[in-house]
Amino acid sequence: MRTFGKLTVCFVSLLASTYLLADPIEISSPDTRIKLTLDNPEQVAMYSVAFNGVRVIDESRLGLEFDTLPNMGESVTLKEVSRDSHDEQWEQPWGERQQMREHYNEVVVALERTDSPAYVLNVRVRVFDDGLGIRYEMPAQQQLKNVNVVADWTEFRLSDRATTNALSIIGEHHDRYEQIYKWTPAEQVETAATPITFERADGIHISIHEAALEDWAGFTLVRRGMGGRALRVKMAPWSDGVAVKTTLPLKSSWRTLQIADSATGLLNSDLILNLNEPNVLGDVSWIHPGKYTGVWWEMHRQDYTWGSAKHGANNERVKARIDFAAKYGFDGVLVEGWNKGWDGNWLESGGVFSFTESYPDFDFDMLSKYGADKGVKIIGHHETSGNVVNYRDQMANAFDLYAKQGVEQVKTGYVAWAQEIVRYDENGYLRLEWNESQYGVNEYLRSVKEAAKRKIAINTHEPVKDTGLRRKYPNWISREGARGMEYSSPMSSHPNPVDHDLNLVYTRMLSGPMDYTPGIFDLTYEAINTDSRVISTLAHQLALYVVLYSPIQMVPDYRKHYEKHMDAFQFILDVPTDWSQSIALSGDMKSHVVWARQARESKEWFVGAIAGKEATNVTVPLDFLESGQQYEAQIYRDGDTADWDTSPFDYVVERRDVVSSDSLSLRIAAGGGFAIRMLKK
Ligand code: NOJ
Repeated sequence: MRTFGKLTVCFVSLLASTYLLADPIEISSPDTRIKLTLDNPEQVAMYSVAFNGVRVIDESRLGLEFDTLPNMGESVTLKEVSRDSHDEQWEQPWGERQQMREHYNEVVVALERTDSPAYVLNVRVRVFDDGLGIRYEMPAQQQLKNVNVVADWTEFRLSDRATTNALSIIGEHHDRYEQIYKWTPAEQVETAATPITFERADGIHISIHEAALEDWAGFTLVRRGMGGRALRVKMAPWSDGVAVKTTLPLKSSWRTLQIADSATGLLNSDLILNLNEPNVLGDVSWIHPGKYTGVWWEMHRQDYTWGSAKHGANNERVKARIDFAAKYGFDGVLVEGWNKGWDGNWLESGGVFSFTESYPDFDFDMLSKYGADKGVKIIGHHETSGNVVNYRDQMANAFDLYAKQGVEQVKTGYVAWAQEIVRYDENGYLRLEWNESQYGVNEYLRSVKEAAKRKIAINTHEPVKDTGLRRKYPNWISREGARGMEYSSPMSSHPNPVDHDLNLVYTRMLSGPMDYTPGIFDLTYEAINTDSRVISTLAHQLALYVVLYSPIQMVPDYRKHYEKHMDAFQFILDVPTDWSQSIALSGDMKSHVVWARQARESKEWFVGAIAGKEATNVTVPLDFLESGQQYEAQIYRDGDTADWDTSPFDYVVERRDVVSSDSLSLRIAAGGGFAIRMLKK
């Protein structure tokens, strides 16, 4: 036994090599560019991270705190250090890319408190070429069965050796993640929901997030009590203050760092999915990516209502949307407001929703048959208003009904303040829980598992942040989890700002697919007396189908608005939603992004680009195309006078012949974009 820093070390084992006990424990990515060092100068486990030899995370604390166990920070022994490496290919059933490579080096450090009650806590670290994950585990151990975790000590002390700016939203916000992103110097971030992304002056980009959040509490980052650029994990507690109540063996979600030397490096990272477990649902060929329209935008435009006042989900309107879908080849029609419970203040009365009874003017049997005859599926909708107890009570019957009607996809909704997820405690008292609490996390997953039993996919609105669980549960097909298009509807007086979509790309979208519902063509609502509008050009709306990835993409606007611009609408008809490859070609967090994606079925390439506040010129090298092959590029771009404010409808549709050695140089307007389909000639 000897002293390790100020910590007593009794045993260190390494699989293959001799280990110097006084040395810090180092682990590098397979390409050796990322190096994490575990050290413990303050009697608690500490880590730091370097990228290409540059320190990016200074010594930061690690550890969990329990309610009845002594803290790890005192009289800890290092019981064992074990290492492993892993290199495996796996396939996504649907996704932004088909072939995935999970390649990492791993170290597991077992820390032990030997005084009574003794216990072991493992810190597992996986380092990939695109980032790393840190997870806590407690193996099954004698005399310890149930534990309550009250805090997570994990810190992220961003190094102050380069000027660093952060793009983030506030953590523990009552509106969940539905906020406007803000740029601040890193030292001014007080709280943040994740993913939060940092841009350093030396070009290094870092994003902090979480992976595999299951039966655990989600975290936000807080600076409270720490100076400089230090942030620490704060898990959303149950209403009694405990963060996680669990039985051993336990494993936390992963605390993740994505690190790259460019903004596009972050976008091309698969870290979050790679830290999740493989598919547990077996054959998932019943999950279908695709495009859908719906009885939806009409409510957000306030032409119809969810409840009976001016009921939108009536037979006639649903049939009209089915006809629209059938004519243009969309797969489904979302129907919101078909079920009883929307009258009165539905935001406050989730307990009265019925998930099986329809309004009298919605004939479910007739409409599912009408759709089936035309090859269009009804997409179901369950709005809970946060009353997950009412939902849980009806869930089995609700999904049975949908299965009977041939529904393959359900959009769920949890419109409630962040800390208003309904629970009744053991005495029957109402408790309101955080949506990111362990309770909330489990309730969201309950619907996904219950749906999977009936081969139904789930698209969650007002969700818990995406942490890559779609790998394990591929029927969790999409989610909201940020301000979507609805914030720019006539119902809202604060439309999404001009750079919102670009900000999503570098933050929210790092976590996974988003059901943003792009594709509004009536951008200015001139016929409606409203201050609201969609702050973008029309070409930007097309680009979003490529830029904001989701395996299900909505075509939300009115048929007449699309048919007014048939030439532009053609892109929405052509663009697929399932990809064999996705490459972020060019990007800068403040100015633009350019994505190229290859369609999984047709193998055609599609390109989408958007700008933020300022107009910009981008040059796209086409070297991702097959060399020696001629292509027709069908280009939908901003016109020369386009500008979101003064000329949003100025777009140009043109064709150019290109080969892989060409580059395309295009101007993007402020709030603009371009979309391209590449057709082999
Ligand atoms: C909020 C969702 O994001 C929106 O899409 C839906 O229409 C309403 N809730 C009603 O459920």
